[in-house]
Amino acid sequence: GRTAALIPAAGFGTRLGRGPKAFVEVAGQTLLARSVAALSPHVDEVLVALPVGAELPPGVDARAIVGGETRQESVRRLLHATTAERVLIHDAARPFLPEGVIHALLEAVLDTGAATAALPLADTLVRAGIGDQAGDTGCWGELVSRENLWAVQTPQAFLREILLDAHAHARSEGHTATDDAGLVARLGGRVRLVPGDARLFKVTAPGDLALAEALARMWDG
Ligand code: C5P
Repeated sequence: GRTAALIPAAGFGTRLGRGPKAFVEVAGQTLLARSVAALSPHVDEVLVALPVGAELPPGVDARAIVGGETRQESVRRLLHATTAERVLIHDAARPFLPEGVIHALLEAVLDTGAATAALPLADTLVRAGIGDQAGDTGCWGELVSRENLWAVQTPQAFLREILLDAHAHARSEGHTATDDAGLVARLGGRVRLVPGDARLFKVTAPGDLALAEALARMWDG
């Protein structure tokens, strides 16, 4: 069966403050171009969901569709725009995607039909309590055990039928989630956790761009 890479890239990048995030450049290449280049050698086709009115940056070899108002809606539209048996969903905002993670996901999906890259948490976790003053960042509330806690990344791999079904359920129930594996798990589907990579961090806040610039120098070698 065929495999498609589906890239939601229709966000407005509000937290980053640099315009639509997928079009932000790191060391001379857009986040979107980097994500597409990492995935295309491993799949039969690449589909990208773009903001209304946007076009693919020059040199990006993919098929573009118009995204939705939420990430979930963008992915739903991408799922309907392909007939591939397997799909790899990947955020344009995670431009540094090691090849080994892609291989591990494509293998895991043969087993369970759903798999995601994820990283075991390394930091101590705390739930913030009420702050001392209005507007401060809060005080130490309670410790949260990090045992068995993983931070979920992308790519996420699915048999397309499984994810289509999960999206249809979520839509009819008005449920929204920040990722796709969560929609499958919610229906009782098994989702394999595949070790991700620290370099797969999502470029979200302005400080992440400095990190991405530094990483790009090594990555582009
Ligand atoms: O905003 P956030 O960082 O969670 O976005 C994750 C990914 O989803 C980004 O690649 C963004 O472009 C994409 N997205 C989308 N459609 C939206 C919102 C976000 O494709 N309406």
